[in-house]
Amino acid sequence: IQVSPFDLVVFGGTGDLAARKLLPALYHRDLAGQIPDDARIIGVSRRPLSREHYSTFVRESLDQFVKAADKNPAAIDRFVARTDYQPADAGSDEGWSELAALLAAGAERVRAFYFAVSPDLFAPISQRIRQFGLVTPQSRVVLEKPLGKNEESARAVNDAVAEVFNESQVFRIDHYLGKETVQNLMALRFANRLFEPVWNSTHIDHVQITVAEDIGVGDRGGYYDTSGAMRDMLQNHIMQLLCLTAMEPPDAFEADAVRDEKLKVLKALKRIDDRNAEQMTVRAQYRAGSVGGKSAAGYLEDLGQDQSKTETFVAIRAEIANWRWAGVPFFLRTGKRLARRTSEIVVNFRPISHNIFDQTAGHVSQNRLILRLQPDEGVTLEVTIKDPGPGGMRLRSIPLDMSFAETFGVSNPDAYERLLMDVIRGNQTLFMRADEVAAAWQWVDPIHAAWAHNDQRMHTYPAGSWGPSASVALIERDGRSWFEDA
Ligand code: BG6
Repeated sequence: IQVSPFDLVVFGGTGDLAARKLLPALYHRDLAGQIPDDARIIGVSRRPLSREHYSTFVRESLDQFVKAADKNPAAIDRFVARTDYQPADAGSDEGWSELAALLAAGAERVRAFYFAVSPDLFAPISQRIRQFGLVTPQSRVVLEKPLGKNEESARAVNDAVAEVFNESQVFRIDHYLGKETVQNLMALRFANRLFEPVWNSTHIDHVQITVAEDIGVGDRGGYYDTSGAMRDMLQNHIMQLLCLTAMEPPDAFEADAVRDEKLKVLKALKRIDDRNAEQMTVRAQYRAGSVGGKSAAGYLEDLGQDQSKTETFVAIRAEIANWRWAGVPFFLRTGKRLARRTSEIVVNFRPISHNIFDQTAGHVSQNRLILRLQPDEGVTLEVTIKDPGPGGMRLRSIPLDMSFAETFGVSNPDAYERLLMDVIRGNQTLFMRADEVAAAWQWVDPIHAAWAHNDQRMHTYPAGSWGPSASVALIERDGRSWFEDA
């Protein structure tokens, strides 16, 4: 179904995110017929480019980041014709009247401003938008992460944006919420009889959430070194996955109902601070090693510095202090330059209450539900069955597997495709509210403070491994082990 006619203004229109994610995602939606004929995409940045130059940038981006099977010359021409460009600078008035004039042609349409720029520019750009009268009742603004560095700076950003846009117009993007498996988690939990009755501490032993990447920091070192794994991945992506796994059923699949429940999870997280950070958290940096058979440099070398206090890996033992989850550990971990790219939520059920089978039947494995976000999205439920054949009762655990690609025979849309269309439709369900962002920082800030106060050890791990041995020790202290290593 087509969305309403819109003008999408991308600040940071010549940047990496626009090239890699936004333009390809919009192109794919256009290819699918979802974008109405007169919709426009207007790139804005400080670079003094002409419209023609920008067309070239758009073409090159699609050429590089759209896979060959989806490249359709007529569709690419049509898409490029929708794009326009206006140089403008948040620090001066230059270019803004021209942008206003361009937008005036679509005053009635949905108007979305996408801030794909550094968060220091969110406030000044918002002010220019107000100064030049660009906000219409149909306007929305999309904020890319990172949303601040801590609670205080996140509040400052949110307050500055709130002077110009009201909360119902603000879309704080966390692209993990646009991933198919993440939405599937909600379908699985709330559209099946089977899971919800056992989704609690009586039946669940522990939960693991892993977002592992094999890539290093590449040329993003400048940004990454001010951020680290905790701010770059854990505070947002992993905590959002945690919320969706742990939240109470909302009364409707509707933006505020869902976000109210996620907020309660964040507020119920047990505090980790100076007293217990050493036991509950591990931070580490990659050193040289080899990934997929190729040698890989260490973080400091990638960064071109001889020292850094920034973690590229973090593991945390989290707990949610409420009736549903009391005593169930949630093990969270993420890192760069790990053994392979894999993201998953693993729900480990408790053992059966009583085993009726004798030793010849073998071990009764615990049920496990695995939600794979990537690379091959899907859901696996591990169940124990009888091994087929006349050999008597022998038990075996097998995966009931639902791979997205195999079951539906289509490749998945990128998360940004779904989320960008939600922005145009005005659906905030998969976007973070200001209070959620603040609550996530309220949990993360004392951990950062404890690392600094206690000068907590920065472990190292060889590129291509599963992280430092301290991360294994963190989970083994609890008598459990990480899923891949099992
Ligand atoms: C981004 C982080 O938010 O997510 C990057 O800034 C990270 O450091 C990326 O590589 C991972 O996203 P995905 O969709 O490739 O898992």
